[in-house]
Amino acid sequence: MTLAALIKLPTQLAPPVNSPMRDRDFTWGVATASYQIEGATDADGRLPSIWDTYCATPGKVLNGDSGDVACDHYHRWELDVNLIADLGVDAYRLSIAWPRVIGLDGQLNTKGVDFYKRLLDRLGDKGVQRYATLYHWDLPQHLEDRGGWLNRDTAYRFADYADKISRALQGRVTAWSTLNEPWCSAYLGYTNGRHAPGRTHPRYAAQALHHLLLGHGLAQPALKANDPGAQRSIVVNIGRGVPEDPGSAADRDAAHLFEVQQNAWVLDALLDGRYPDELFRLWPGTEPLVLEGDMDLISQPLDHLGINYYYRNTLRSDGAHGFTSVNRPGAEYTQMGWEVAPDAFTELLVGFHQRYANLPPIVITENGMASADVVVNGEIKDTQRISYLQRHFAAVHNAMAAGVDVRGYFVWSLLDNFEWAYGYERRFGLVHVDYETQVRTLKHSAQGLQAFLRERAGR
Ligand code: FCB
Repeated sequence: MTLAALIKLPTQLAPPVNSPMRDRDFTWGVATASYQIEGATDADGRLPSIWDTYCATPGKVLNGDSGDVACDHYHRWELDVNLIADLGVDAYRLSIAWPRVIGLDGQLNTKGVDFYKRLLDRLGDKGVQRYATLYHWDLPQHLEDRGGWLNRDTAYRFADYADKISRALQGRVTAWSTLNEPWCSAYLGYTNGRHAPGRTHPRYAAQALHHLLLGHGLAQPALKANDPGAQRSIVVNIGRGVPEDPGSAADRDAAHLFEVQQNAWVLDALLDGRYPDELFRLWPGTEPLVLEGDMDLISQPLDHLGINYYYRNTLRSDGAHGFTSVNRPGAEYTQMGWEVAPDAFTELLVGFHQRYANLPPIVITENGMASADVVVNGEIKDTQRISYLQRHFAAVHNAMAAGVDVRGYFVWSLLDNFEWAYGYERRFGLVHVDYETQVRTLKHSAQGLQAFLRERAGR
């Protein structure tokens, strides 16, 4: 029997032995987003966001759930900061709610800003680095009423918000990220309609994405000038596509086009200053209106690139250039129905390293999985999550061994929370939340990560 078993230490959730991911300068963190945890949607002058409107529209969100209360983090933030510090992570990734901090007149809402000042200061006091995302999908509804991300003016509004909030929070943030997963905002929000604002037009996604990325570019000079000590980045989602039948040229083409629209669409724009021509083979006639100078703004250098990875897609061609995702017999899936595929994570990271000459250092800003976790005798045995994370840590280790420069890893998520169109039914947290009582309980995965981080810190 091992010593750990004898004294009942939790099994460590850790990267491989001798991995550089164990070094002190590798940043370990946990992530959340404002609308998913804060609740208090009408407190202290917060304005309605597109997610409030979307949730109030019958049939859009599972069980009619909304972020009205969520994890009540707006009121319980001190408890949550203690949890973060107790986990022993180096860093916390949060997002700032635009509708909380900017009023209808375009000026700062002091009460909303003060919430983030208190939160960031307390995290700093506890020695936790702060990674702040400016836009994790909660667009003020009044801007959507003027066209949202289809309106070029929204990019300028975003840059103005970035300017004002980075001035107000100067010195409190380790790293600023402009956008979280602009692909999701654009495609799910404006073409497929499964996310707020729920618009569905085949041409909209490309124009919305262009304005999102333009907003990112326009915000850069202000972030640099206002908070020169902080890093600047953007967070993108990435997806691996593989053919259902590797012997079929049509399926291989489908898998290739899937990655063009998931990855190259955003990364070519950010890193090479152009949209991939092949995108318009997939979606003819959707070219966005791009003005002179836009692509230079969009492709300014970044201090790091945030990457969110969850799963792999198996693609079946429809015979033309379209495709559908299909399940792979015998594969492992999560509560989301997402295939567990750590090798795909390595392949993507190594692929970007080979493709983009100017790829910045990478921070994994999200990775994790949902499971139907239940509390039994005060314990949550989330064994699939432990196994999932352990394999994905190893996948990143393998990418690093192949030469990819990865600087940090944030697990999604600190807490079970509002999982967008799936409401509260899907649990991604390292920490379980009882939504009736708001009691937080560490799952076994949280205890495993804590055990690793404590040992690394020599405690
Ligand atoms: C990502 C989102 C995050 C969370 C995870 C599961 O796409 O950025 O807010 O919902 O998926």
